[in-house]
Amino acid sequence: MDKNSQQVMLQQQVMLQKANDYLKERMEQNTSGSHRLAYHIAAPANWINDPNGLIQFKGEYHVFYQHHPFSAEWGPMHWGHVKSKDLVHWEHLPIALAPSEAYDQDGCFSGSAVDDKGTLTLIYTGNVWMNEEQTEIKQMQCIATSTDGITFVKDAANPVISAPAEEEAADFRDPKVWKYEKYWYMVLGTKKEEKGKAVLYRSLDLRNWSYVGVMAESDGSLGYMWECPDFFSLGDKDVLVFSPQGIDAEGERYQNLHQTGYLVGHLDYSTGVFSHGSFEELDKGFDFYAAQTFLDDQGRRILIGWMDMWESKMPTQEQGWAGALTIPRVLELSADEKLIMKPVPELQKLRKKCYGLAGEQMIFGKYILEVEGECLEILAEFSLESCDASEFGLKVRCSEDGKEETVVSYRVDQRQVTVDRNRSGIGPGGVRASTLERSEKMKIRFHVFLDRSSLEIFVNDGELVMSNRIYPDPRSRGVELFAFCGKVNLLSFEAWELKDIWKK
Ligand code: FRU
Repeated sequence: MDKNSQQVMLQQQVMLQKANDYLKERMEQNTSGSHRLAYHIAAPANWINDPNGLIQFKGEYHVFYQHHPFSAEWGPMHWGHVKSKDLVHWEHLPIALAPSEAYDQDGCFSGSAVDDKGTLTLIYTGNVWMNEEQTEIKQMQCIATSTDGITFVKDAANPVISAPAEEEAADFRDPKVWKYEKYWYMVLGTKKEEKGKAVLYRSLDLRNWSYVGVMAESDGSLGYMWECPDFFSLGDKDVLVFSPQGIDAEGERYQNLHQTGYLVGHLDYSTGVFSHGSFEELDKGFDFYAAQTFLDDQGRRILIGWMDMWESKMPTQEQGWAGALTIPRVLELSADEKLIMKPVPELQKLRKKCYGLAGEQMIFGKYILEVEGECLEILAEFSLESCDASEFGLKVRCSEDGKEETVVSYRVDQRQVTVDRNRSGIGPGGVRASTLERSEKMKIRFHVFLDRSSLEIFVNDGELVMSNRIYPDPRSRGVELFAFCGKVNLLSFEAWELKDIWKK
């Protein structure tokens, strides 16, 4: 190792030590409070945003995340790290990356991971503020490697891409790298004249990159900047997932501050051009952004997103932490080229006590269930065949005095699924509605994952997914079924209490 590399390693070690020591101290104070999630990934303390570097390496699943270890707010970005043998039981590891060099002095921004012949290689964006007001930036692509999957060394070749190839904007970030035939490919998010775009590079060795071209870009209707692009094949189609900033709300669509969605099409690797259909949102809930995917050794394409939204109120900041990732979801492409997300089956390992209703039940008015809890998986299937109710569904986190509840419902005539968090506790409220456009089924199947401050709803086997943060009182634990202005036939109901994987 030459002198320069030694210096880089030392600086990085000093910064990591500082961050890890600080986190340890915070954890000992144990101030995380009643909304601390039981089976989702969050930092041991303080802030997280995007999932980064998702990979299965030497048989274990690794998830990194954008992390500010020194406060519960966004700040100079580090990479936090957890790993798991089964996608369910996660273990916190020391922080993997800290800002330490001239090229990443103000943050190790989002990126991805690859297995380069047994070396776990992280590819990330080094962020540098060019002025005190933090209005001007320089963003460069960097790599860091590890053989044990825990300790990472920043590469002597950094930055491996020091500036955009064309006269693009300074926003140039979030590398996602994959291998196709003999080359590594990298897609990056950027913009030109306030229109978001994704650009493609290729390399033989992860260190020397050449520019291929523009993969896809906004025509003005798809946002001013594309963050966190991710590219993969599903069957014989190619998919580009990305998070455009600044698409205006339009009816039910684009209701969040920023969106995450996808384009399905075909990438011409020689020109870099991705021909594609129209943009679709991935998740219609309040809290979903910056999703990333990876391929596991069973050939599954698995996706994890950040289960929050920029500028949303996050009440847990007062308890010393903020931000969490969604449960892992398997992606499939439907015959009409829409992405379907299903919870990974491994999550069944969380199940404890099961409650079921024997046989079918006619629901009208309110039906209070025996099951209750903060951490539940619920499967409820309703028939539309003899339904004359205008609306039906379930309520979770209900308080005994009826003041708190979170409502998941189906409006029959409108074919709309809604989530209403106006009475969900101390967090932001609002109602989200999304029409089931494709389902021909005469059934509505809700598959719900409830944690202490989250609610993920999968409708009709992943045709529609809504991810949400809610902050109810810990005593609000009731579950109810309901039907308004008529009745609906409940075909089956099962619920499980779920385990707290973080409890020692
Ligand atoms: C997306 C994002 C990325 C960036 C990171 C910084 O949420 O803005 O574009 O790399 O967060 O934390």
